[in-house]
Amino acid sequence: MKDKLHEPVYVTRPAMPPLEEFMEYLKRIWETRVLTNHGPFHQQLEKELADYLGVKYISVFVNGTMALITALQALRITGEVITTPFSFVATTHALWWNNIRPVFVDIEPDYFNLDPDKIEAAITPQTTAIMPVHVYGNPCKLKAIQKIADIYGLRVIYDAAHAFGVKVDGESVLNHGDLSVLSFHATKTFDTFEGGAIICPDEKTKRRIYFLKNFGFADEITVMGPGINAKMNELQAAYGLLQLKYIDGYIAKRKIITELYRTELSGIDGIRFINDIDGIKHSYTYFPILVDKEKYGQTRNEVYENLKKNNIFGRRYFYPLISQFPTYRSLPSAKAENLPVASKVAEQVICLPIYPELDETIILKICGLLKNHS
Ligand SMILES: Cc1ncc(COP(=O)(O)O)c(C=O)c1O
Repeated sequence: MKDKLHEPVYVTRPAMPPLEEFMEYLKRIWETRVLTNHGPFHQQLEKELADYLGVKYISVFVNGTMALITALQALRITGEVITTPFSFVATTHALWWNNIRPVFVDIEPDYFNLDPDKIEAAITPQTTAIMPVHVYGNPCKLKAIQKIADIYGLRVIYDAAHAFGVKVDGESVLNHGDLSVLSFHATKTFDTFEGGAIICPDEKTKRRIYFLKNFGFADEITVMGPGINAKMNELQAAYGLLQLKYIDGYIAKRKIITELYRTELSGIDGIRFINDIDGIKHSYTYFPILVDKEKYGQTRNEVYENLKKNNIFGRRYFYPLISQFPTYRSLPSAKAENLPVASKVAEQVICLPIYPELDETIILKICGLLKNHS
């Protein structure tokens, strides 16, 4: 039998609660025969999530991508939307599925989020909104983005897929902008197998979002518009309720792993990582490092391959940039000259494995490989 140290290690591994505890929820579903359509677990999850996250209104979804697509519908966004190329491809796909033209703007070099200083130059008469991403859960420059949005009358929809539980000066980062969107995909800190949510500031918007995610039905015989089917089902919601009981423990373990990585990797010439930010409560969903070839002596791709040879499967999030994919690469804003910071970071970044059950010996093995490269 292979020992732990030689088993494949992937960038993430979902933390799962005890199966026996989930059986209790399953029994309820079997008794009530309510499988979906805004059932009791769906309602309870929305209530408990709002309390846990410190947000007023939340609407849960079948996945984060459908939540993003619906968020744009909810605010009737059209024309052009300013967004980042340094994200998971679903951010831009959500615009495309709404027939909206993405306009890529470069990122800032510290946290790799949309650079507010470069937004104004990209605004045209067709611009209706900004869609930034809190990449790796590090908050965007919220005030600067809101200031621009207020001057130009733009909406702000945050893709907060990585920012579950993140707080700024004690308040949820999800309360910023017009809407925020979460993903509860299996790879995230809080997961419901697949899932997602929209956070909105008022009940009226929540009602519109609910109609939209349920085919547009406002009541039994009224369809308010071309809604979609994006509701979270009862199995997902039940699992979410159970996961919420464990989430603080999961985040605490992620913090310990992050701190061990930082201790072990500090002082390696050419390896850079992000430290905690003052006033921010982090959720430690990712541990990205940047490899500077000149100083480190190896490229990021060499590091990636070397780890892989040793059964460590890091991920190059986010390479290639979204702007390089065939759907988007012919857009004028997709040109590499327009995105120098994002282009460089995409060539240097690799996310190391991080998940609550990750063993200390594995972390030390990974750091050893990074320290002792030839
Ligand atoms: C930044 C970002 N946006 C959107 C998504 C899409 O979410 P989902 O997989 O839940 O559809 C993801 C990840 O999956 C993501 O990382």
